[in-house]
Amino acid sequence: MDTRLITIDKEEPEPDRIEEAAAVIRSGGLVAFPTETVYGLGGSALDPEASRKIYAAKGRPSDNPLIAHIAGFDALPELAAEIPETARILMRLYWPGPMTLVFKKTDAVPYEITGGLDTVAVRMPSHPVARALIQAAGVPVAAPSANASGRPSPTRAEHVAEDMDGRIDMILDGGEVGIGLESTIIDVSGSQPSLLRPGFISEEMLAQVLENLTVDDASMGPVGSDMHPKAPGMKYRHYAPRAQMTIVRGGTQVVEAQICHLAQEAVRAGKKTGILCTEESCPVYKEALHLTPERQDGGGIILKSAGSRHDSLSVAHNLYSALRFFDSVQVDVIYSESFEEGRLKGAIMNRLQKAAGYRILEV
Ligand code: TXA
Ligand code: MG
Repeated sequence: MDTRLITIDKEEPEPDRIEEAAAVIRSGGLVAFPTETVYGLGGSALDPEASRKIYAAKGRPSDNPLIAHIAGFDALPELAAEIPETARILMRLYWPGPMTLVFKKTDAVPYEITGGLDTVAVRMPSHPVARALIQAAGVPVAAPSANASGRPSPTRAEHVAEDMDGRIDMILDGGEVGIGLESTIIDVSGSQPSLLRPGFISEEMLAQVLENLTVDDASMGPVGSDMHPKAPGMKYRHYAPRAQMTIVRGGTQVVEAQICHLAQEAVRAGKKTGILCTEESCPVYKEALHLTPERQDGGGIILKSAGSRHDSLSVAHNLYSALRFFDSVQVDVIYSESFEEGRLKGAIMNRLQKAAGYRILEV
């Protein structure tokens, strides 16, 4: 299949381009598009065949359900059988925006999109391109992140093309996304709201408006074989670079010293080594490991800053593209610092720990 790449204005999307993309969705095809979180891979949420195409394009297990994206509140009753008061509070605060709610589903929602569950995940994105596309398509749009299953989510159209070229009909290139991590998922289908996936809207923010919020175990720790995570996606390896990654956690200077030591050992063992560092620590590694632009290759150590240690927004924004960068330079192992500061630390560490397969070294 020929994948058409179409650039689009991210503030004021050109109506003719949106219409072309919407026609693809209406006719059962797939279009990748930017949202405020990550790029999504969209198809009609009411068409089981479109869902099957999405699973096939991503290589995703079909028991891992998709999120239905809507453009307006009036589209919700068709999908959600019940809209509890908790959901209304959250929707008023955070829709449109980076929040997904899980409801009991109506009969209109095919089991193909819910992975066989009786619930459906719904999100109303705020990105102008996403909103215009869903509006023009005239149907809710099922959209997982537009990466191949298991790889880091795409934050730029180039990332989508890396994984999806030849597999989908169209990519709308609206440049880099803002947030860089997927939406916060809250299950409101049970008696108590439950946080299934942390995101830009943090647990602390939710706790301010919900007294009885519970946190699904699977949202933070490794998922044991005896656990049944509420969000089926939690049990799969995720967001992962190709190299084996280890997170080193502890006091700043001890971590830096330990990462230097581990990187030198890895290089001695003939492994090309990546270090995921911060703006603050990159110069420290450069000096300690005597890295110059020439020696970075010869020495087999490659540094990548995820952003400032004191600015969790910047780390969230850069994390996935940093992991993809390490793939592109084909490192064998990655040592990463732990990011323990700021509002998004929960969401960042959730993704980073999964990417590392929970390989964490406490120092
Ligand atoms: O920010 C986002 O949410 C992005 C953009 C494109 O909107 N989408 C996204 O979709 O991250 P995806 O498919 O990569 O992740 C969806 C997550 C999965 O972990 C899935 O298991 C969970 O949502 N999920 C979907 N439907 C569910 C349901 N009915 N009950 C529980 N979890 C559900
Ligand atoms: Mg995903």
